[in-house]
Amino acid sequence: MIDLDAALAHFWHPVCTLSELRSTDSGVGPLPVRLLEQDLVVVELDGAPVAMADRCVHRSTRLSVGWVDDGCLRCPYHGWAYDRDGRCVDIPAMPDAPIPPKARTAAFDTVVAYDTVWVRLDSSSDTVVPACDAFGDEEMKTLQGDPYTWPVGAPRRVENFVDLSHFAWVHDGSLGSRELPVPPIPEVERVCGDHGAELRFAFDPPIEPPDDVALVARSEYRMPMPLTVDIHFLYDDGRRRDLWMTASPIDPGTCRTFWFVSRTDDLDGDDRAHLAFQDLVLAEDEPVVCNQVPRAMPLDPGVEVSVRSDKVSIEYRRWLRELAAAAAEGALGGALGSPVARVVADGLAS
Ligand code: FES
Ligand SMILES: [Fe+2]
Repeated sequence: MIDLDAALAHFWHPVCTLSELRSTDSGVGPLPVRLLEQDLVVVELDGAPVAMADRCVHRSTRLSVGWVDDGCLRCPYHGWAYDRDGRCVDIPAMPDAPIPPKARTAAFDTVVAYDTVWVRLDSSSDTVVPACDAFGDEEMKTLQGDPYTWPVGAPRRVENFVDLSHFAWVHDGSLGSRELPVPPIPEVERVCGDHGAELRFAFDPPIEPPDDVALVARSEYRMPMPLTVDIHFLYDDGRRRDLWMTASPIDPGTCRTFWFVSRTDDLDGDDRAHLAFQDLVLAEDEPVVCNQVPRAMPLDPGVEVSVRSDKVSIEYRRWLRELAAAAAEGALGGALGSPVARVVADGLAS
């Protein structure tokens, strides 16, 4: 069976919003999160969040039930304290003894981008946080949606966002129409840029927007690898609205989606209405997406039947298979250039 998780470990994934971290009792964590089947603790030490393995190496109490103390995360069981590199720097029961070098917990690459904490478990490839064009664009008003956890693997969640033939069925009246079930078959490009690689395609919806907040217009899709979708909706009158999402892989059958909606128009309008349209769309998607079995997308060819109207999904799956194969061969690592982009370029040549 093709295993994608080893490849996913090389990429950056969101684990919590800054506001979730700020909502902890201390305002700086600790906050337990889970990524690729690993329990992690996020905590702000010395002014910046860091993610570590959520386990004290002494007697395995979760560090997420501890507290921040003088720039360290202190375990509540016997008081060992860990710095932001995961090193134990204090063993209160042995104040005069040297601290064993093995007394450290794993600390992972952690950055804040888009008011969200991102973590990379394997730092051996030069991957970057996927771009979000709208965030920081002064012409656009950007709203962060509440993250949501669904019992489905992250690739299935992403694939649903770029599945053009489901609009007519699942979103009859909101994004599509059952009277118009034949979607266009777009050209799908792979582009290798400075920030890794992405798939791109465009889609012209067959229906008119049902109301003022609906995201229905010419849609330009970018999919920075491997679990992000950035859609620009370009209206005839020059307005632009964006929908950006990334699915964070909690385990092979569970993901947490982080998302933003942005707009150049209606800047003083009711933000809740713009978020509510997404709630409507999500409520339409959830019963089908969360009833896909198995919950993890099968990457082995032949397990599910594809047809020509699944072109985007076929290209996406091909790309994930190549990533999984590259990771299995150790080809995602390396020191020269952009290994990830190179893998994709090789795939294009074949
Ligand atoms: S279990 Fe953490 S200090 Fe003993
Ligand atoms: Fe949908």
